[in-house]
Amino acid sequence: MSKGVTVWFTGLPCSGKTTIADMVAEILREQGEKVERLDGDIVRKSLTRDLGFSKEDRDENISRVTFVAKLLTRNGVKVLATFVSPYIERRQRSRDEIGEFMEVYVRCSVEVCIKRDIKGMYKKALAGEIKGFTGVDDPYEEPPSPELIVDSDKETVDESVQKVLEAMKKHGYL
Ligand code: ADX
Repeated sequence: MSKGVTVWFTGLPCSGKTTIADMVAEILREQGEKVERLDGDIVRKSLTRDLGFSKEDRDENISRVTFVAKLLTRNGVKVLATFVSPYIERRQRSRDEIGEFMEVYVRCSVEVCIKRDIKGMYKKALAGEIKGFTGVDDPYEEPPSPELIVDSDKETVDESVQKVLEAMKKHGYL
């Protein structure tokens, strides 16, 4: 059985987590790997649709998703998880629970995230229409020692994708 792992992408909204992970998923599937995607925007419409964005609810969101990622990982699946997951302690617990785990910090300045603003949420947050938006008036705790940092405001998507694949090789998952 191929080796399972959860590659956990963390970063601000609009930092590029979903774009990069979707491309990594496509490449791995073409190589015949078993791949699953767990994404905040999708999970929050199903498994965690009852939750909001308080610290407690974000932690509960990550807790449930971690449970699923753990089951998949131990069955040999490459899990690509994309969540803002702003809290160091909660990410550490996911790492401990899942075991085979790589953290990828998708680093991007808030200024660039605001320029991208794919869903217009930063605009609303800056106007005070959404409270507690990560990067505007809610914290994001940077990973002190992730397996990989990709600088999505400096690299192309392809470059970031290649870096993720190389890191997975380096850590023995490909
Ligand atoms: S997490 O903090 O619990 O990890 P998650 O990744 O699931 O967040 O969801 C983030 C997505 O929810 C963002 O892409 C954004 O579209 C939306 N969202 C809505 N409200 C907020 C908020 N207050 N802070 C961050 N993201 C929000």
